[in-house]
Amino acid sequence: MGRYEEIFKRSMSDKEGFWGEAAEKISWVKKWDKVIDESNPPFYKWFVGGELNTCYNALDRHVEGGRGSQTALIYDSPVTEVKKKYTYSELRDEVAKVAGMLAGLGVTKGDTVIIYMPMVPEAVMSMLACARIGAVHSVVFGGFAPNELAIRINDAMPKVIISGSCGIEGKKVIEYKPLLDKAIDLAEHKPQNTIIFQRPMCTAPLTAGRDKDWNELMATATPAPCVTVKATDPLYILYTSGTTGIPKGIVRDNGGHAVALYQSMKMIYDINPGEVFWAASDVGWVVGHSYIVYAPLLIGATTICYEGKPIGTPDPGAFWRIISEYGVKALFTAPTAFRAIKKEDPTGSYISKYDLSNFKYLFLAGERLDPDTYHWAANLLKRPVVDHWWQTETGWAIAANCMGVEQLPIKAGSPTKSVPGFDVKILNEKGEELGPNQEGIVAIRTPLPPACLPTLWKNDKRFKESYMDPFPGFYFTGDGGYKDEDGYLYIMGRVDDVINVAGHRLSTGAMEEVIATHPDIAECAVFGAEDNLKGQVPVGLFVLKAGVTRTEEEIVPELVKMIRDQIGAIACFKQASLIKRLPKTRSGKILRGTMRKIADGKEYSIPSTIDDPAILGEIEEALQNIGYAKK
Ligand code: COA
Ligand code: AMP
Repeated sequence: MGRYEEIFKRSMSDKEGFWGEAAEKISWVKKWDKVIDESNPPFYKWFVGGELNTCYNALDRHVEGGRGSQTALIYDSPVTEVKKKYTYSELRDEVAKVAGMLAGLGVTKGDTVIIYMPMVPEAVMSMLACARIGAVHSVVFGGFAPNELAIRINDAMPKVIISGSCGIEGKKVIEYKPLLDKAIDLAEHKPQNTIIFQRPMCTAPLTAGRDKDWNELMATATPAPCVTVKATDPLYILYTSGTTGIPKGIVRDNGGHAVALYQSMKMIYDINPGEVFWAASDVGWVVGHSYIVYAPLLIGATTICYEGKPIGTPDPGAFWRIISEYGVKALFTAPTAFRAIKKEDPTGSYISKYDLSNFKYLFLAGERLDPDTYHWAANLLKRPVVDHWWQTETGWAIAANCMGVEQLPIKAGSPTKSVPGFDVKILNEKGEELGPNQEGIVAIRTPLPPACLPTLWKNDKRFKESYMDPFPGFYFTGDGGYKDEDGYLYIMGRVDDVINVAGHRLSTGAMEEVIATHPDIAECAVFGAEDNLKGQVPVGLFVLKAGVTRTEEEIVPELVKMIRDQIGAIACFKQASLIKRLPKTRSGKILRGTMRKIADGKEYSIPSTIDDPAILGEIEEALQNIGYAKK
């Protein structure tokens, strides 16, 4: 039996022993009474009775253990031409002051704080500062529009919101403060205070009383100590797209999260204390939470906060520069970033300009890694290119080729096998397990391992209904796929109305809800069509109300603006087409899957339940007019 198989089997047959041992690597204020409490399924609790502080484990512990002068965080911002390094001692001291600043505004254990920040070190510090005082952070990606931020404010009910005066997107300066003000106006819940980190490119006007200046507060803040919390207390909430306009508030606990993320650094990424790990993502996404902030710091590695893009800041050699400049051992990013580099530098000519001798692995996740991109990267880099599959809900990889355990043969198009701790199964609609090469629904037998969502924020009901009720005894991932005869997993895409645009998870349902408010529109459907660069992009089809005579040319720009204003530019909603009727089943269900196949130019069968098969020809024509449905 290989090492992977041995470890995987143990994680299944002796989860208490497996995770109990892993938990010994974390510093606890009080050791747990029970590794896992399975008394109230499907609500499982890890390390019940245990007490700890996540920030202590990420920072103070390393300073006390002799790593104080090692670099903890590197900030590299080609868009502002700033580079800065923080040692573990410096980062701990800064974070303690930010924590003191929050405490000074009355934030205490259990309070929520929203962080709406660009990729600056202060965003990382804010997250760790919340963890330090036991407050629950909720980071909202800077690309979301005020309406999306308002929805999150209403659900998380933050006492304080921390924001920046602006973000830099390539050459554009995006002012955050007007977006924040509008979101607070729209929201029913009002935070007591906001803290604004003023950046030199743009100074935001502050509202007296409510808005505080980061630098002014920091100047007088008293460093705050770590507050002990229960292993099962929430560390953060991260909202992610579901099938409706209301996002899901994924909850992460403190104990299980620290244990699993620490373990994942060696087991999956082969990273040891003192080595440099770089996740080129954004703190607004789960990859940023887990692998820019928490996991690298928990293990005592060096992490990088990169404020730039894979291309254009200034060129497609940006990633190779960072890797060589800081001696990065492993890079983690989304396949989209590599497709962007490949488009601009197809021969990889920038790679040879840099010394990549420390670079050992490229990890990709967030969307399907298409075999073309895999082969391109693997041929040029001549290093393992590791596809791994995970979700905001799990917080770490469900399937991967675990580099710290045993490198299994790589198969292009597959994220390899279940990570120890995850029991992945392929089910049919009835919940029966399918055999090799049979495509079905990807599910995970419960209990899920530590760090996975214990529930949704203040919504046990939705947690059960969305994830646990569809297939009792399993967690429903929302993805479809199969396993081959060697047990390799293939993730083929979502089976629900969630799409993945440039590695960003978005809800087509949310877009439909916005479009439906257009006064001229009777009904609409949004689905994800294949895109060479972004993996998928949303495409809309709409039907006008009776009597409306306006044209497609007049209406589409209005829809594009509505989605941009209400969801955000990252939705990348640019194309829609006017049609006479939506294809539906006789019971009224819109046939989005069929439309998606037509858009992608794939073979499709006419569903037997369709009310009017003739409509499909019209849809094909409409989609061809906007550049899709090519045969
Ligand atoms: N704040 C404000 N606006 C943002 C933003 C942010 N943090 N991030 C993106 N946007 C805007 C962009 O400026 C762009 O606006 P535009 O339509 O006015 O040009 C829009 O949202 C779409 O952004 P994006 O999809 O990122 O497209 P792009 O053309 O700017 O860049 C890539 C394309 C491939 C370079 C980029 O998508 C990328 O780096 N993707 C990697 C994704 C990733 O790391 N995902 C994390 C999961 S691991
Ligand atoms: P997010 O919650 O934003 O991380 O998005 C999770 C979704 O992205 C998953 O449910 C998948 O649909 C998709 N995804 C993530 N990683 C992969 C991967 N390696 N291969 C295929 N799809 C992936």
